[in-house]
Amino acid sequence: MATSTIHTVAIIGAGQMGGGIAQVAAACGFKTLVCDASSAALGRCRDGHTKRLAREVEKGRMKENDVQAALSRLHYVESLEMLKGADIVIEAVVEDSRVKRELFAKLATLFPTQILASNTSSISITEICAAVGPQGHPERVVGMHFFNPVPVMKLVEVIRGLQTNADTVQKVTQLASALGKTPIPANDRAGFVSNRVLMPLINEAFYAWMEGVAEPQHIDEIMKLGCNFPMGPLRLADFIGLDTCVHIMNVLADGLGSDRYRPCPLLRQLVAAGRLGDKTGKGVYDYAPQATSSPGHTSSMTTSKAAVGA
Ligand code: CAA
Ligand code: NAD
Repeated sequence: MATSTIHTVAIIGAGQMGGGIAQVAAACGFKTLVCDASSAALGRCRDGHTKRLAREVEKGRMKENDVQAALSRLHYVESLEMLKGADIVIEAVVEDSRVKRELFAKLATLFPTQILASNTSSISITEICAAVGPQGHPERVVGMHFFNPVPVMKLVEVIRGLQTNADTVQKVTQLASALGKTPIPANDRAGFVSNRVLMPLINEAFYAWMEGVAEPQHIDEIMKLGCNFPMGPLRLADFIGLDTCVHIMNVLADGLGSDRYRPCPLLRQLVAAGRLGDKTGKGVYDYAPQATSSPGHTSSMTTSKAAVGA
């Protein structure tokens, strides 16, 4: 249900995270406006909502009329100007500090009083606050870090920048609860808690692969069966997006001042080849429908290893 002060939620970025946040917001009763620079991304997002919400009916988790109501609360727009009327903006665009700072500078003018939240995985919220400028009310900028897949994962890491005020933190904490999530605070250090711990583990799995410790499917199986991970770290990297993993590692390396956080060369090489994981159909594993290998098998790993001299 909408909170007392938030009725309309605007989400910028209709990728896997923005799409997931939008689905949950609409299902929880909020009017939801989704904006993306790419009309193709908006189309995929809309199709994903129709498919995923239909699945909720199939599984008996939602009633058909509630799904229809949720779909009617979803609006897909191509310009920031069309988000006017929103009580909060949640940004979920690419994990690039420059892109986010430019976007927040624009949002400061378009939304003079509303809460501006970022779903960044790792970038300093204090820096994003600063991007709205001293006249842009940086105290209403905050980190609201959802997890993938949003409809399933319960956590929202709430990050307070140096400039963020207590009222903003309280309102997004309330909103996260209204979305059925568990909000937990973390301080504004590179990667916060989640990615400071998770992403070096994923990066290490790429090193293990690159150094020939084991084949990817064996690395994943070992971590699944031996450590009870729902997905192995390489499969999870594909699921998150290898480009996002590289961005996060670079933020950790710069923010924590240590080269031990630099992205593994093999990870960087896959990104350079356009193999970003699930979202491009190929990453560590090949997800093409015609591929004989399921996630857990890939035919082109040797090429990647050879190319980086492993
Ligand atoms: N979107 C929405 N729902 C999804 C989904 C998606 N992309 N993928 C799976 N689901 C849901 C489905 O509803 C499915 O349930 P139904 O079949 O009943 O509809 C349910 O998840 C289970 O899916 P599956 O049976 O297909 O597969 P599974 O049992 O292996 O579960 C999983 C899939 C939930 C993704 C599970 O493998 C898992 O928990 N993986 C780890 C996810 C994780 O660690 N996420 C955090 C990533 S890090 C992050 O998000 C932060 C960051 O900044 C990078
Ligand atoms: P994605 O690549 O799936 O989607 C990003 C979307 O943003 C694309 O549709 C792109 O067209 C759009 N976009 C890029 N620049 C834009 C701009 N200036 N204006 C409007 N739209 C723009 O990425 P994602 O995985 O959804 O990640 C989005 C954000 O969420 C990143 O900051 C990421 O670190 C964070 N995040 C990702 C995960 C994950 O597992 N993938 C988990 C938590 C947080």
